[in-house]
Amino acid sequence: MKSKPNEFAVHRDWEWNYPVMSHAEGVYLYDTEGKKYIDGSGGSSVVVSIGHGVKEIPQAMFEQAQKFSFYPAHMFSNEKALELAEMMSGHAPLGMKNNIKTWFCCTGTDATDDACRLAKQYFTEKGQGTKHIVVTRWQAFHGNSLSAAGYSGHTFRRRIFQGMFADSPHIPPAYCYRCPFDAIYPKCGLKCAKALENMICQYGPENVAAFIAEPVVGAALGAVPAPEGYFTEIRRICDKYDVLFIDDEVMTGWGRTGKMFGIEHYGVTPDIIACAKGMSSGYSPLAAVMAKKEIWAPLEKNNSAFRAGHTLNANAVSCASGIAVINYLLKNKLTEKAAEMGGYFLDKMTKELLPLKNVGDVRGKGLMVGFEIVKDKITKEPFPAKEKVSKKIQDLAFKKGLIIYQCGGSVNGVGGDMILMAPPLVINKEQINEIVKILKETINECV
Ligand SMILES: Cc1ncc(COP(=O)(O)O)c(C=O)c1O
Repeated sequence: MKSKPNEFAVHRDWEWNYPVMSHAEGVYLYDTEGKKYIDGSGGSSVVVSIGHGVKEIPQAMFEQAQKFSFYPAHMFSNEKALELAEMMSGHAPLGMKNNIKTWFCCTGTDATDDACRLAKQYFTEKGQGTKHIVVTRWQAFHGNSLSAAGYSGHTFRRRIFQGMFADSPHIPPAYCYRCPFDAIYPKCGLKCAKALENMICQYGPENVAAFIAEPVVGAALGAVPAPEGYFTEIRRICDKYDVLFIDDEVMTGWGRTGKMFGIEHYGVTPDIIACAKGMSSGYSPLAAVMAKKEIWAPLEKNNSAFRAGHTLNANAVSCASGIAVINYLLKNKLTEKAAEMGGYFLDKMTKELLPLKNVGDVRGKGLMVGFEIVKDKITKEPFPAKEKVSKKIQDLAFKKGLIIYQCGGSVNGVGGDMILMAPPLVINKEQINEIVKILKETINECV
């Protein structure tokens, strides 16, 4: 006999009547009752890049699993991890291309946590052990462990654990629609980036190891790209104070924004990249820390083991899925497709949704787009948080057969309703039209 969701297995929401998923193909998912859903959010939170049900991927995983899946990583290497790491080096962005080494882990949270560890250890090995602080931003999300809560700026996910994590200094986000400095780009002179310099000086550069940021803010802001010039300024400040720039590409990496990595839109080379989600397109748990060779060099020189690691890291079946996913992405030119379809999607949202009386902003890059719901378009006043408007929109869209990802907290970390859209990169124009049609109906019925 089948048990009901939440009877034995705990799901996040206690009230939601979870359908049970049966199978998925392309941009569609089906439940066990036979209902069809269109995937507007990459499976869940910007994960599925190459589409659902691509046969090559389980085939590659199966072939590896027949040989072995788990391996004693303290004694052996595995061919799939070696092949994947070499492949990733060739696709690394800008000044990292063919100049990185990759560390494999399981989730995006592991990747950002390990990236922060690497920054700290890098300085320790160089005799600069006081450098330990990771500066971060409000309205940012970097993972869901207690350590990540400290360097994330997502109020809802941090608040009840406050006191349990080591907090990081936060600078305001690069968020033109609700500029934290009440300024207008480009006259603002990028005060949001300059805030990093102030923060580093306040804490003392001798204490600051890294700055972490997403090129396009996902879960915390609903697809907000940084303004042009922002990351150039960040890079300048990091270089000036010997601070590493950690680029969190967990959502934006591997084609999502129309470039292989989101940071490529800004022409800036990071020191370390954390990636996950799209690199295995959700076919298996896989994440990675890609870092310039010179970042690993002091550890190597001192023969000092990297102080990180989880039992299931660099799992051979997961690495096999990563190789197959990246090959599929390249073979089908899905990064280019994300740029083209993303442009169409943003355009369509601008034409169809922005004129609605409660849609205050639409934004995004490639196939990572979003919009913001407001009570008053002129003043940008949000709906009261307790009305849970974005959740209502998400739930009604789901009933209509569309999966979307709701976000909150653009205003003081508490108010503000946003919807993040990130369909698989194989989506076509008709399917985008279908999504926008449902979104429009849903918004009109909810607000
Ligand atoms: C930018 C960013 N970093 C890190 C994470 C954490 O990834 P995971 O959920 O795989 O631990 C997420 C998850 O949404 C994310 O969006």
